[in-house]
Amino acid sequence: MADIQKRRIVLGLTGGIAAYKAAELTRLLVQDAWEVQVVMTQAAGQFITPATLQALSGRMVYTDLWDARIANNMAHIDLSRGAEAIVVAPASADFMAKVANGLADDLLSTLCLARECPLLMAPAMNRQMWENPATQRNVATLARDGVAILGPASGDQACGEVGMGRMLEAEELYDAIDMHFQPKVLAGKRVLVTAGPTFEPIDTVRGITNLSSGKMGYSVARAALEAGAEVTLISGPVSLHPPLGATVVHALTARDMFESVKRALPGTDVFVSVAAVADYHPVLVSARKIKKSERNLTVELAPNPDILAYVAALPRPPFCVGFAAESENLETYADAKRRKKKVPLIAANLAQSAIGADENELILLDDSGRHRLPKGPKLAVARQLIHHVAKLCTAPARGGKGRRR
Ligand code: CTP
Repeated sequence: MADIQKRRIVLGLTGGIAAYKAAELTRLLVQDAWEVQVVMTQAAGQFITPATLQALSGRMVYTDLWDARIANNMAHIDLSRGAEAIVVAPASADFMAKVANGLADDLLSTLCLARECPLLMAPAMNRQMWENPATQRNVATLARDGVAILGPASGDQACGEVGMGRMLEAEELYDAIDMHFQPKVLAGKRVLVTAGPTFEPIDTVRGITNLSSGKMGYSVARAALEAGAEVTLISGPVSLHPPLGATVVHALTARDMFESVKRALPGTDVFVSVAAVADYHPVLVSARKIKKSERNLTVELAPNPDILAYVAALPRPPFCVGFAAESENLETYADAKRRKKKVPLIAANLAQSAIGADENELILLDDSGRHRLPKGPKLAVARQLIHHVAKLCTAPARGGKGRRR
């Protein structure tokens, strides 16, 4: 019965050592209730057996254009009908060349040509093959034809060389597929996000920081990307992988972050200030490690610039979204912050339950009142926030907010 509601995806494997990652990808998709129909080329069978993929997907694996198991002998049409996408991972240079030129001489390439659904490809090849002008021409053709190219990544390659061409990891591919299916409510918009804590040095090894993990800001950046925006993420020191496709700028101190924000601002439509920016920095930073003594030590602190307030006060600001982390009087304090910083939208959360956690619960405060977003994983909450932002941004501009700089 559950099968009836399952979303269907065709996972195509071509010849490449990265085929083993497709096994893990199948597992992740099946776990997420996808019905995964695996199709392999002859070359893929040199790297992984159909039996492995059959066991993981729980379905027959097809390799042959003339497979007699399909009643009407139309495997090349039937297998992709009802599928929400065909994902080719790994996609070899040869296979990409074929599809870019409309060739269809085996089951998978014929399925790609006869498809009605989106096609996503995860290139996997040696770096020279990837950099070869012929491959680059084919990639450009595929992208022009609307094929989504996922990756590749740079790193160690099976051949012993290092460079671009390595297939994304299974989890990254899974995320990229998930992203592909999100509604594109911010298509064509440029979004700037700050995330994580800042670190204000006291001496060469010590400093003032806070417990922000960056998870909420990184989730907002990812949700904006999924919604079709071009995203710049300005990140304080965190230990997270940035979402695929974001332009990432690292910043240590609040003043670094401020400069990075100013540089990234031109052309920004939406600014989401999630970072837990330190309010103060030490006036003097010792060039040596401060030695212990019996006497009291006083560190004089000077205020940092308020990045959000600065951006919101610009003559033609982007649509500004603030975050308010409060330990008490959540809505009252958050609303006061919204008015003081003059931002159209503020997301209020309880500092003690949000900072560092995997889940969050937000109350959005804007001109039309309060909107409670239910507790959930930070990515789910970020997606709802981005939908709210998209609604406000596409509404007629009020009081100069929401216009492009
Ligand atoms: N913010 C900022 N620059 C700062 C301080 C805060 O851009 N120097 C932004 C945060 O990214 C957040 C919002 O302002 O979007 C509110 O931050 P918060 O720390 O909650 O408020 P503060 O203004 O610092 O006030 P307080 O610490 O007194 O609560």
